[in-house]
Amino acid sequence: MIIASISYKGGVGKSTIARNLAVYIASKGQKVCLIDADETMATTEWYADRQENPREDLPYLQVIQMTNTKGLIPAARGLYEDYDVLVIDAPPSIKPIASKIMLLAHMIIIPVAPKGKQDYTVTAKFVERYDEIMQQKEEVTPAYFVLNMYRNTNFNKAFEEVLKEYGDSSGIGLLDTKLSELTDHAEATQSGLTAYDYSKGRAKEEVEYMCDEIVALAQKA
Ligand SMILES: Nc1ncnc2c1ncn2[C@@H]1O[C@H](COP(=O)(O)OP(=O)(O)OP(=O)(O)O)[C@@H](O)[C@H]1O
Ligand SMILES: [Mg+2]
Repeated sequence: MIIASISYKGGVGKSTIARNLAVYIASKGQKVCLIDADETMATTEWYADRQENPREDLPYLQVIQMTNTKGLIPAARGLYEDYDVLVIDAPPSIKPIASKIMLLAHMIIIPVAPKGKQDYTVTAKFVERYDEIMQQKEEVTPAYFVLNMYRNTNFNKAFEEVLKEYGDSSGIGLLDTKLSELTDHAEATQSGLTAYDYSKGRAKEEVEYMCDEIVALAQKA
């Protein structure tokens, strides 16, 4: 299974979700490689920190950087022969590499952290591109929005309703999971960890709930 965490918007939690999902799946005994497809190398640096602070209880995880648009699909397919699961941390861009990632993936997770009107435009653009790309594939790739940094505001609730409507019009679902804005995520990141292997509280519970949900959907796909 190849799962991509992707959005056209920066700072919405693509890397956080990709890392947590990769660690979670690895902790269940699967051989996982996390692909850092972002030229900023944030996940590659996170992995270097993780290796500098080794802990016996952390599951084995490999991180490989792949930012070459042309080479991505053949390189990732080759790599996939050696792993059970690839998780792709996509860059925040509408560039061709984002389309390649969508072509390659068996499942697409789209973090959304609604902050303002611009999120409606970005989401609509993403859905449009997703629809175009799915026309090039033999089988439609299941895709799900996930609300991140969620707050119980009227704006967030209204945005959630819009995301639900996309389920009918484009087939992109909305995960039941809502990840709250919690400092454990940023704190964990600083030492090469994820909330899943760092937090003992709500951040870990929410991540576990999300990963259980994604894995169950992946098994159905
Ligand atoms: N649920 C959350 N609660 C609090 N902080 C969060 C949460 N999710 C992510 N963050 C923090 O927000 C920042 C951006 O998250 P992240 O790097 O995962 O986003 P991204 O979409 O990958 O960004 P980029 O587009 O720059 O690659 C990070 O500092 C991360 O620790
Ligand atoms: Mg990122």
